[in-house]
Amino acid sequence: RRPEQMVQYMVEEGIAEVPKRFVQPPHMRPAVGRRSSSDDEVPIIDMALGKDEEGRKQLHADIARACEEWGFFQAINHGVPDTLMDAMMDMEKKFYSLTSEEKEVYKKRKTTMSVGYGGVYDKHKDQALVWMDRLTVDLPSARDLTETYNLVIDNPPGFQEVYVEYGKAIYEFAKEIMAIISEVLGQPKDFLFKKIGDDRAAMKTAFNYYPQCPQPEFVLGLPPHADASALAILQQGSPGLEVLKNGFWIPVPPCSKRSLVVNVGDVIQMISNARFKSSLHRAVVTEISRYSIGSFIMPHREIYLAPAAELCDEMNPPIYRSVKYAEYILEYLSRGIKDDLRVVDLF
Ligand code: SIN
Ligand code: FE2
Repeated sequence: RRPEQMVQYMVEEGIAEVPKRFVQPPHMRPAVGRRSSSDDEVPIIDMALGKDEEGRKQLHADIARACEEWGFFQAINHGVPDTLMDAMMDMEKKFYSLTSEEKEVYKKRKTTMSVGYGGVYDKHKDQALVWMDRLTVDLPSARDLTETYNLVIDNPPGFQEVYVEYGKAIYEFAKEIMAIISEVLGQPKDFLFKKIGDDRAAMKTAFNYYPQCPQPEFVLGLPPHADASALAILQQGSPGLEVLKNGFWIPVPPCSKRSLVVNVGDVIQMISNARFKSSLHRAVVTEISRYSIGSFIMPHREIYLAPAAELCDEMNPPIYRSVKYAEYILEYLSRGIKDDLRVVDLF
């Protein structure tokens, strides 16, 4: 995305109207299909339940239901320290308050981790641009978090140190969720983790900035999409996320200051042969700036994925073919924005 199309700079220049390139067609706008009553909420799950035997059963049942019915839940008492969450959010805000020249340095930087700065969903020329700027940090292997590597984000000072600690904590939490999902599937704790390549699994973190918008009813911060990852863990500074359920967009405001949204991605839908759902979701914007941090746990690029043989039989035959993850990602990226409300077909 060209600097003049970065949302932050447009907003800083002071605009009263949303530029045409950002205006969504009427059927894509935030008001369409939004739920009107509030009886259906994304489940809130207290991870502290897992401390004793009885609670653990309850926790497993809650997570199973959330992943089957929603593909989403909000976690509290998740073990990622408050101070680390605050420090990471603070670093994100510091990053976006750098000058444009300082930020442009990160347009493309490749070392052990690769860093990107720009917009998303820009490749599909006929579709509206999204009201969001994004900084991404890509780790080809999450195990790199425990090694020393080149400094990739040296400005704002301390960003990388905070990211390494944050990334480790989020990764540990994701492993815990994968262990529970594995047990729910009647498999050993390390079942899912092994399927995505053990510590060769990849991790990507997206620092999303949705600047204040003069006409939020015309734009989307992120269009409807399902995540291509195994799991996604989202820290939200304020409301904006919405999940599609039974044809309605259900808002998912943070249920407490440091709650984390967990969602099943396409990979777990695939391995579980669609028992667990990778749901469509989107981000809407408001007149107030919003920051979020999404971390995606993904299989190693060379891993082949398919419905697990352990979970299939004559009554439940595999519904997806086997695919190398790197190829799946290419297919996913070429698909473009879903401009209708059908659930994503994996193949
Ligand atoms: C995402 O779907 O990756 C992030 C959504 C959000 O910022 O709420
Ligand atoms: Fe997402």
